[in-house]
Amino acid sequence: MIRKGIILAGGYGTRMSPLTKATNKQLLPVYDKPLIYYPLSVLMLAGIKNIMLVVNKGQRQQFKNLLQDGTRFGIKINYVEQEKPKGLPDAFILGEKFIGKDNIALILGDNFFYGQSLTKKLRKCLALNMGCKILVHPVSKPELYGIAYTNKKNKIVSIKEKPKNSKSNLAITGLYFFDNKVIQYSKSLKPSKRNELEIVDLLNIYKNKNRLSAEYLGRGGAWLDTGSIDDYYNTSNFVSTLENRQGFKIACLEEIALKNNWINKNNIKKAISFYGNCIYSSYLKKLIK
Ligand code: DAU
Repeated sequence: MIRKGIILAGGYGTRMSPLTKATNKQLLPVYDKPLIYYPLSVLMLAGIKNIMLVVNKGQRQQFKNLLQDGTRFGIKINYVEQEKPKGLPDAFILGEKFIGKDNIALILGDNFFYGQSLTKKLRKCLALNMGCKILVHPVSKPELYGIAYTNKKNKIVSIKEKPKNSKSNLAITGLYFFDNKVIQYSKSLKPSKRNELEIVDLLNIYKNKNRLSAEYLGRGGAWLDTGSIDDYYNTSNFVSTLENRQGFKIACLEEIALKNNWINKNNIKKAISFYGNCIYSSYLKKLIK
């Protein structure tokens, strides 16, 4: 059973410069809340309360100003600064102490998930005992993602990072579930030509040991990312369309915490005074009416 999660919220966000010159990408707004709220909401929906947040060197305080120690959402956030973006598996080297003897979930700070059966699927993935589980979803531009190749029995036979002219369009989303061996395997990786530890190399270790499995997000699920400026605004539009049509918010962290019984009405009142007079606070007020 997985009870801990890591969010990778570092990186230089170069594809989104100049937006990211003075601010971390994960602190930019996706419609009505900072991007970091969305991956954090995914871990919370899964039931994970113990979270390590990896941020760039010198950016801890910016994130802390927003998320504090997590008490507002009934969770615990440990902040770790990454010297420079050394690659996704670096999360497990930085997180060795935090992970301890446990299994671990990893979500990329720029990934957005939405869908009716999402919570159920996530909780199923958390049951992982041994090996690695990835969440896959089709995309129209495989050259932008890690791609999985499956056989007729839907078993993963190979994986490639950002392949050109790919025959498969099954992308590996930025949500992964690992057993405790991930620390040892990450430490054994050598940097690639672009001088980063590659997630695909880590996944290949599990695949070669026959310990890699995939969960399909399914057609009713949405997975968006905020890699480019267009993707970023599309995600914002998606959130604004749904929220304004339905009147409920996506990734309202206090709402998820309240539903999980991690906080009470008093905590919501404190959150309202933290946010001040704004639309987000009006929404919180309605929750405790
Ligand atoms: O979004 C899913 C894709 O994410 C996967 O399909 C790919 O297999 C995977 O490699 C990754 O590709 P990206 O090109 O999107 O990764 P990127 O370098 O943009 O990093 C993703 C997030 O992780 C981003 O929010 C920055 C953060 N990050 C990245 C690195 C390399 C860190 O915090 N530290 C790092 O060292």
